[in-house]
Amino acid sequence: MGFEFNENVIEHFENPRNVGEIPDADVIETVGSPVCGDMLTLYIKLKDDKIEDIKFKTYGCGAAIATSSLFTELVKGKTVEEALKVTSDVVVEAIGGLPEKKVHCSLLAPDAFKQAIEKYRAKQ
Ligand code: FES
Repeated sequence: MGFEFNENVIEHFENPRNVGEIPDADVIETVGSPVCGDMLTLYIKLKDDKIEDIKFKTYGCGAAIATSSLFTELVKGKTVEEALKVTSDVVVEAIGGLPEKKVHCSLLAPDAFKQAIEKYRAKQ
């Protein structure tokens, strides 16, 4: 076996939250990992500057699925400013740590979120 994942990672990988699309999303953003080339698309629905709904789809690995799942749980219901503080470090800590080689996987969702908000604000 290659990597040692803790049980939180495995639990989110097996039962990922908020997977899918939001048909009437306010903003959609896709990012790719420069490390592995895997991709993630984030769908965000905003209301009164809060994250009303958020979903993701990824071709990424198990760690990408697990950390993106946790990211969506952490930011849902938060204001945009609060959600922007949920960095990959926050996600990795919240999930109980990742093997060093898998830390880059936790960047996909926060990076997509940051870019999505920039794109959304530029349109306003
Ligand atoms: Fe590509 Fe994890 S190896 S996202």
